[in-house]
Amino acid sequence: MNFTNKNFPALKNDRLLRAARGQEVDKVPVWVMRQAGRYLPEFQEVRAKHDFFTVCRTPELACEVTLQPLRRYDHLDASIIFSDILVIPQALGMTVEMHPGKGPVFPNPLNDPMEIDGLKEDGAVSRLLYVGDAITLTRHKIEGKVPLIGFTGAPFTLMGYMIEGGGSQNMQKTKEWLTKFPKDVHKLLSLLTRVIIDYLVMQVDSGAQLLQVFESSADHLTREMFAEVSAPYLKEIRDGVRKQIEEKKLEQVPMTVFAKGGGHSLDVQATLGYETLGLDWTVDPVEARKIVGDNITLQGNLDPQDLYKTPEEIRQLTLDMVRKFGKTRYVANLGHGITPQTPLESMTAFTDAVHEAL
Ligand code: CP3
Repeated sequence: MNFTNKNFPALKNDRLLRAARGQEVDKVPVWVMRQAGRYLPEFQEVRAKHDFFTVCRTPELACEVTLQPLRRYDHLDASIIFSDILVIPQALGMTVEMHPGKGPVFPNPLNDPMEIDGLKEDGAVSRLLYVGDAITLTRHKIEGKVPLIGFTGAPFTLMGYMIEGGGSQNMQKTKEWLTKFPKDVHKLLSLLTRVIIDYLVMQVDSGAQLLQVFESSADHLTREMFAEVSAPYLKEIRDGVRKQIEEKKLEQVPMTVFAKGGGHSLDVQATLGYETLGLDWTVDPVEARKIVGDNITLQGNLDPQDLYKTPEEIRQLTLDMVRKFGKTRYVANLGHGITPQTPLESMTAFTDAVHEAL
C-alpha cells in the first residue's frame, strides 16, 4: 500500500458533515462511540490474535476493525478510526499497557512534576504516523461509503491518565497536583496541547474528514475547574488546528468536543469554536439546545445501558430522543461508548430507529 496517495474515492454519504455544518439532511446521521469494539465477535477474533496496541499500530488491522461495524450495520453514517487516546502518552515516551478486564495501565506514571521535562515532545507526531497511515488506508478501503472521523484525547483527560497511571475513581493524585503544582500542571497541559494540534493536523493531512476531541474525564471537574484546566486548552486546539490547516492549504474539517460530565459548562463549550458538542446521557436535549443556541450541532446522547433493553424499547427511546433534539443540527449517538456485552441486535434497533425518525 502506498500511503502517499491521497486521491480518495468520492464521498457518497455526507449526512454527518452536513449536520456538523448546519446544512439540511435527508435523515439524521448516526454513529456510535466505540462502534468498533468488544461487542462485535469479529473484533474479538482480531483481538484474540493481536495485542490491543498492535492493532492500533498496524494500519491493515486498524483499517479492518474500523470497517467491521460498517459491514454489519447498514444505517451507520460514519466511521471512526480505530486507535486510542493513550497513543499520545506513548509517543511522549511513556509505557502504556492494555490489561484485559482492567483497562490501560502505565507501569511508570508521572510521580513528580520534574518528570514533565523528561517527556519527549520533539518528534512525538512523527512517532504517531502509523495513525495517519491507518487513516489513509481506511479512506481508500471505505470507498467513500461514509466519512472517516479522526480523534484525540483532550489535554486534561490525557494528563489524568499520565498522573494516575490508568483509569481512576476520584483523580486524587491529579487533584493534588492541581493544588500543589498549578504551574507545572499548566506547563504539562500546554505541552499536550501543542502535540495534539500537530497530531490532529497530521490526521487531516492523512484523510480524516471530521475530528473529535474526547474530554472524557470532565466529570471530575467543577464548572470553575473546567474553565481553568479544560476550556482554554480546548479552544487553543480548535484555533490551532484551523490555523495550521489554513497555512498548509488543506481543507478545513468540522470539529466535535465531547466532554463527558461537562453538562455544567455547556455555555462555555459553546464559545470554543467547535461545530459540534457531544452530550452524555445526563444532559436534557431541550435544555442543552436552549443553552447553546441554534448555531451549534449537538451529538448524543442515549444512555449506553438502554441498549440492554428490548429492541422495541430501544426504538421508542431513540425516536423520543430524536424528537427532543429535532432534525437539524443534530447527530445521533450514545451518551458514551457502547459497552462490551451489548447485544448485536441493539445496534440494529438503535441505528434503524434514528433513520426511521425522518
Ligand atoms: O470508537 C471507536 O470505535 C474507535 C476506537 C476507540 C477506542 N478508544 C478503542 C478501544 C476510541 C475513540 C477510544 C477512545 C478512548 N480511549 C477514550 C475516550 C472515550 C471514552 O470512552 O471516554 C478513553 C478514555 C480511552 C482510554 C481507554 N482505552 C480505556 C479507559 C480503555 C479501557 C476501557 C474499556 O472499554 O476496556 C481502553 C481500551 C479500549 N480502547 C478498547 C477499545 C476497543 C477495549 C480494549 C480491548 O480491546 O482490549
